[in-house]
Amino acid sequence: MSLRSRILLGTVLIILSCSISIGLFSWHFANRAILQDMRVSIGVSLLHLAQTHADDIRQRRESSLWGALNGLAANQRGAEYAFVMDAAGSIVAHTDIGKVGTMSGLAPVDLVAAQGSEAGFIEQDQRRVFYQAVSEKAAEAKGEEFLFGERDNARRAVGWVVLALSKRDIERIPQRIFAAIFMIVLANLAVFSALAWLFSGRIAAPLRELARAIRYLNEKGVTGTASRLKVDSSDELGLVARAFNKMADDLYGAWRRIEDQNQTLEIKVEERTRKLKEAQAMLAQAEKLSAVGQLAAGVAHEINNPLGIILGFSQSLLRRIESRDGMAMPLQSIEREALRCKSLVENLLIFSRTQNADKKEVVELNSMLGSAVLLLKSQTKIKNVDIVLQLCPESVNVEANRTQVQQILINLGSNAIDAMPKGGTLTIRTLLSKARPGFAEVQVQDTGEGISADARSHIFEPFFTTKEVGKGTGLGLSLVYEIVQKHKGGIEFDSVLGQGTTFVVYLPIVRAAQAGD
Ligand SMILES: Nc1ncnc2c1ncn2[C@@H]1O[C@H](COP(=O)(O)OP(=O)(O)OP(=O)(O)O)[C@@H](O)[C@H]1O
Ligand SMILES: [Mg+2]
Repeated sequence: MSLRSRILLGTVLIILSCSISIGLFSWHFANRAILQDMRVSIGVSLLHLAQTHADDIRQRRESSLWGALNGLAANQRGAEYAFVMDAAGSIVAHTDIGKVGTMSGLAPVDLVAAQGSEAGFIEQDQRRVFYQAVSEKAAEAKGEEFLFGERDNARRAVGWVVLALSKRDIERIPQRIFAAIFMIVLANLAVFSALAWLFSGRIAAPLRELARAIRYLNEKGVTGTASRLKVDSSDELGLVARAFNKMADDLYGAWRRIEDQNQTLEIKVEERTRKLKEAQAMLAQAEKLSAVGQLAAGVAHEINNPLGIILGFSQSLLRRIESRDGMAMPLQSIEREALRCKSLVENLLIFSRTQNADKKEVVELNSMLGSAVLLLKSQTKIKNVDIVLQLCPESVNVEANRTQVQQILINLGSNAIDAMPKGGTLTIRTLLSKARPGFAEVQVQDTGEGISADARSHIFEPFFTTKEVGKGTGLGLSLVYEIVQKHKGGIEFDSVLGQGTTFVVYLPIVRAAQAGD
């Protein structure tokens, strides 16, 4: 059952029980008051008759009593009959003349005299029969004393004056009172039920709204504004609504804080995972490079001498024979391939030397790169590549091995030129790093073919190359990687297929004080 119906039912029950008890009380007292009033007024009339007709009663003058009795009955509303009887109960006079001389049926001993002017009465079927004693004193007509006679007057009664009233007529007045009370109860019931209905609506509506907001909160969470209540009263319901809204706001705040913390945690976890992967990759790379370095030192040493002999003899033979000689072509091939081997051996030697921590010095980055740029320029001219230099205006000191850093620029620059067979732009930049404060950046950007997704994870591996056999050793980037590691720097690249690639090398900046050491 809804709260509203319960309030309504409770109100109806309270009003009903109050109205009924008040009604019964009023009914009871009204009845008593009416009866009392009748006893007094009828008592006075009966006494008056007894007084004025005392002699007639004593003398049993029926005819004069008859007129008086008729007058009495006519004056009293609801009167059925009236009579006078003697002390023995025999009727002396009666409004119905036929009853004169008969016994009244009322035993005088049962009739107790009432107080003063009040008439006594007995209930008989459909009538209420009032009676009043006619005392000796009344018969003697002694005024006051007679009117307000004493209790023992009855014992000395010489007769009785009796008036019977129809109960139906008597009860008409209390019935009207009852009807009036009933109407008042009904009206009260209607008015208070309507008030209770309106009032309960004012209580139930905010409670229903509260229940809806709680359900919304459960289902949709605290983010939506629909989980807040409208506050338009300052009573207890308004207080509840305000408290609920505050609770929802607090929940929302807590939820936001948890969300933020979650995000921060996720970012931290991602960052750590990335660093871990980088460290693993670096470790794997370092292991490979160290193996290659050891191998390179041995192989380079073993190959260098026979290679010198092959190159020396082939070149001296070439000088001795005519260019038209049939041996010229094979000898040129021998020389070209021997030169290629020489370059491979040189690369391997640089590689192995890099691993043996070459001497470093504090140098100015821009000036150090100058000679490497010159070397690149000679290549770009042939390959139809524009070279753009964007050096930072500040003087940036780094602690570096001059030859090795130049090697970085030459290797990255050569790769960039190779990636632009149809020409393009090679941009070389130096700048103070914003991404890694305290580092200088050397950027080498081309507008070439880009690096394929497959190649990306392998480009720093030794001997990984996508170039034709004889055109690349696959050692260029692994050498750059090795040098960068030796300088406590870093290397990253960004490449878009068909648009170009940018390599960024980070080198730690040396502060002025350190530079002066
Ligand atoms: N700027 C670039 N654009 C496109 N691909 C590149 C670029 N730089 C490197 N690569 C790719 O990375 C591979 C490895 O480069 P790396 O310099 O190590 O060897 P290489 O250039 O092939 O040989 P070497 O350097 O000995 O001549 C290249 O073969 C090429 O596929
Ligand atoms: Mg290369």
